[in-house]
Amino acid sequence: MKLSGRVACVTGSVRGIGWEIVQAYAQEGAKVVICDLHRSDVDRAVEQLGLSGEKVLGVKADVTVEEEVVHLFRGIGEKFGRLDILVNNAGFAWPRGGPIDLEIVDTPFEVWLKVLNTNLTGTFLCSREALKMMRAQGYGAIINISSPQGKLGKALRGPYCAAKFGVEGLTQVMSLENSSYNIRVNTLNPGGIVATEAIRKIPGNKGKKMLSPEVIKPCAVYLASNEAVGITGRSFVASEWNGQHRIEVAYTIA
Ligand SMILES: NC(=O)c1ccc[n+]([C@@H]2O[C@H](COP(=O)([O-])OP(=O)(O)OC[C@H]3O[C@@H](n4cnc5c(N)ncnc54)[C@H](O)[C@@H]3O)[C@@H](O)[C@H]2O)c1
Repeated sequence: MKLSGRVACVTGSVRGIGWEIVQAYAQEGAKVVICDLHRSDVDRAVEQLGLSGEKVLGVKADVTVEEEVVHLFRGIGEKFGRLDILVNNAGFAWPRGGPIDLEIVDTPFEVWLKVLNTNLTGTFLCSREALKMMRAQGYGAIINISSPQGKLGKALRGPYCAAKFGVEGLTQVMSLENSSYNIRVNTLNPGGIVATEAIRKIPGNKGKKMLSPEVIKPCAVYLASNEAVGITGRSFVASEWNGQHRIEVAYTIA
């Protein structure tokens, strides 16, 4: 197993891409921390994982709230005494239940703030707390979930593009500042639209061919493991990585 003895925290991990990554890490022997917005979702995900109590921690935390993030990482330290892997996954293109596909000219300030706060500020807050633990132990891997829109602007995705471009830049900075502490920081982007529950529900998506959520697993395990020693400050595309490693790229019909 590639992650035996490691402790991994994945934010926004009760469903979608985060849930795939947390399952992959548990299968590779890691102790895992599930973090998401609602206690009931966290409890259900912990139960579904089926790990013994000493191998899993479920925390209700909003990554945009500084005190909740500090509490999350304090809890990880108290339970496991270390943190080896952080995946900053919590994020979305548009807040749930609100309008989508807005041009910048029509974007309400609160929508802008919510998208930036979750994707970018959440990544900053969680990384800052994780880095304190990782520097002290002289080891760590941070994986920031990005998007094709973190590299290429797309109309009707203004706040999301700004946030994910920010995530790509923050990754490079954190990589430069922490490589001497044996901490690697990279981004991982699925490579296209992934058929998570939220994406399937968007009107017009039914019947479309999309990447399956499991597309993310192999590269997420690679970046967290010792196979990626020396790899930092880079931007990975999961579907391309799978293709290069002769792993079938998983598609599904939404
Ligand atoms: N689905 C796609 O097509 C796609 C494509 C490229 C990149 N991504 C990225 O992948 C990541 C996950 O996307 P997904 O499609 O799995 O989304 P999802 O909505 O299925 O899951 C996101 C999870 O994050 C949680 N979350 C949201 N705000 C949070 C907060 N403030 N604090 C803690 N948890 C919070 C949600 O409750 C949810 O469980 C995001 O960063 C997204 O930008 C998704």
